[in-house]
Amino acid sequence: MKTEARPYVGAALERVEGVEKVTGLARYAYENFPDDLAYAVPVQATVARGTVLAADVDAVVRLPGVIAAIWHGNAPRLAPADNAELAVLQSDRVAYRGQYVAVVVAETLQCAQEAARLLRIDYDAEPHDVELRADHPEMYRPDRVNAGYPADTELGDPDAALAAAPVLVDATYRTPAEHNNPMEPHATVAVWSGDGLTLHDSTQGVSALRETIAPLFGMPPDNVRVISPHVGGGFGSKGAALPPVVLAALAAKHTGRPVKLAVTRQQMFAVTGYRTPTIQRVRLGADTDGRLTVIVHEAFEQSSRLREFAEQTTTPTRVMYAAPDRRTAHRLVRLDVPTPAWMRAPGEAPGMFALESAMDELAVACGIDPVELRIRNEPAAEPESGLPFSSRDLVGCLREGARRFGWADRDPTPAARTRGRMLVGTGVAASMYPVYRRPSRASARCEPDGRFSVRIAAADIGTGARTILTQVAADALRVTPDRVRVEVGDTALPAASLAGGSAGTASWGTAVVRACEALLEELDLRGGDVPAEGLEATADTAEEVGEQPEYARHAFGAQFAEVGVDLDTGETRVLRLLGVFAAGRIVNPVTARSQFVGGMTMGMSMALLEESVMDREFGDYLNHDLAQYHVPTAMDLPDVQAYWIEEDDPHLNPLGAKGIGEIGIVGTAAAVANAVHHATGVRVRDLPIRLDKLVR
Ligand code: MOS
Repeated sequence: MKTEARPYVGAALERVEGVEKVTGLARYAYENFPDDLAYAVPVQATVARGTVLAADVDAVVRLPGVIAAIWHGNAPRLAPADNAELAVLQSDRVAYRGQYVAVVVAETLQCAQEAARLLRIDYDAEPHDVELRADHPEMYRPDRVNAGYPADTELGDPDAALAAAPVLVDATYRTPAEHNNPMEPHATVAVWSGDGLTLHDSTQGVSALRETIAPLFGMPPDNVRVISPHVGGGFGSKGAALPPVVLAALAAKHTGRPVKLAVTRQQMFAVTGYRTPTIQRVRLGADTDGRLTVIVHEAFEQSSRLREFAEQTTTPTRVMYAAPDRRTAHRLVRLDVPTPAWMRAPGEAPGMFALESAMDELAVACGIDPVELRIRNEPAAEPESGLPFSSRDLVGCLREGARRFGWADRDPTPAARTRGRMLVGTGVAASMYPVYRRPSRASARCEPDGRFSVRIAAADIGTGARTILTQVAADALRVTPDRVRVEVGDTALPAASLAGGSAGTASWGTAVVRACEALLEELDLRGGDVPAEGLEATADTAEEVGEQPEYARHAFGAQFAEVGVDLDTGETRVLRLLGVFAAGRIVNPVTARSQFVGGMTMGMSMALLEESVMDREFGDYLNHDLAQYHVPTAMDLPDVQAYWIEEDDPHLNPLGAKGIGEIGIVGTAAAVANAVHHATGVRVRDLPIRLDKLVR
């Protein structure tokens, strides 16, 4: 039964649920049809700030097929929540346009839609404020920003260093609000039976969702079961509980019927989170040879009236480059807008657009090649903490990328190359993403027939998590993957961390390895004998994760872009993207490549396409569908290449893997913007790079 250790980690195993998915057998949240099912359709506020005075629920419940119309006047009471976004229908206050103010439950979807359309709501509207400005009088410093980072950091005397710097870059960059648009919009089927609630929900983390939902309904977490075997993308938007799942559970409780609620693409633009717009000022001071003496990075962002969500935009700047004097800061203003949420490398993606654009501006100012400039400012240890890096191969990624991309003979002169009616240019930017690991549990079980099952409440949101955990388990058990079945996506399984922060492989992988090791130990004690009822072992990694030694743990990468800008229209096409990443051990080259390429595609999308446009008078984002909110197709990215440098990092986890879900996104937008500058001589500092910004 024993074979060589670890033949499968690193192998190109095909997606274990691939056939289920392509044959339509994989069941998503919306595809559950319990008996007696009713349909819920929400009603959204048509004012951006104010009070709900009345809802004419009596008129719509008289319509045939309508079961209930619920608003704060008749809604079941929820327990107070830390997150006021989840106090759905609990108050008459409207905090943003599009907030849920009522829900209609009916026998059919069509009936619920029509009744929701007819439901008359009266408001007392108040003047709203939805505009992010760096000089907003209510800007404040949050205590902390997301992921637990301090809001501000300072080392040395950055102001004096800026004043003394021979070369100075001082630039302000802007990124727009952006909305996640997973292929599968959010959906819930909520079923109460007695005191128990079952949620079929499209979520990135069943365990976390249960912990949030149960107390709202005054229940212990054990009374809630969340089932989510397949999820059609999340990108952060399904990471935390949102109003729709609460509304579905509330509607099911009120009506005593199983309730299905699907968020439409249009509704997603109000109720499932978005990336905060950012205004970022970056100041870099350097010697004439390009050595940084000072880095200052300040970010201005928004949150809602309901909740403080403080994106960690300048945190990558604490990690990237050496400089004795430095400052990073975050300021936040609470506006009459929906609460921002996690979105595709939150913090790192917008923050690194600003820093890596500024580095390109510095390269131009010093007359130094931008690859060389970054190598020259490589720190020996993490610049702000002083901690040693567990591993860091940014330099390797830059050199390998430059070689593969054909960077060596690049003429830095801007606007000097044409191909047909296009100006052509190339750009580079660095990327980084922190390595997180969170406590998880797992079980491993052996049957007398030699089959194994591994259970963990992990989430496969399309990343290949189920597949790579099968590889990890096979190696830990020293068997072939076909003898291992991995079950994920159900709170009936051992509780696990959510799919977020690119931490799935590290977190769940550790738990799976430990559970498998414990099972092998048990088997050994029994001389390899499996009892008729099977043998099971469990693991909990809380202690191991809590006690890991202090290192600066991050993945790094280098992004190279070639763009063509139409001389007449200013239209930018990305001709080529090439990324090289150093992210520890790569568990599966096929699923990993798809993560990197997907991330780079999102980064390209951030550079050129995605923009949620706030209508200041109306108080809402104007885009409400994929006709107005642009995401790329294959034709927008004819040539994307992802490569990696294998790292042997013993300070991470038993797999030696860093996260790969998000790093591909980081730096891509700056690489594209830097290439646009090289092509045209125009520095676009506010994303997306629309043609009007180039023609102007
Ligand atoms: Mo991701 S934005 O950490 O789900």
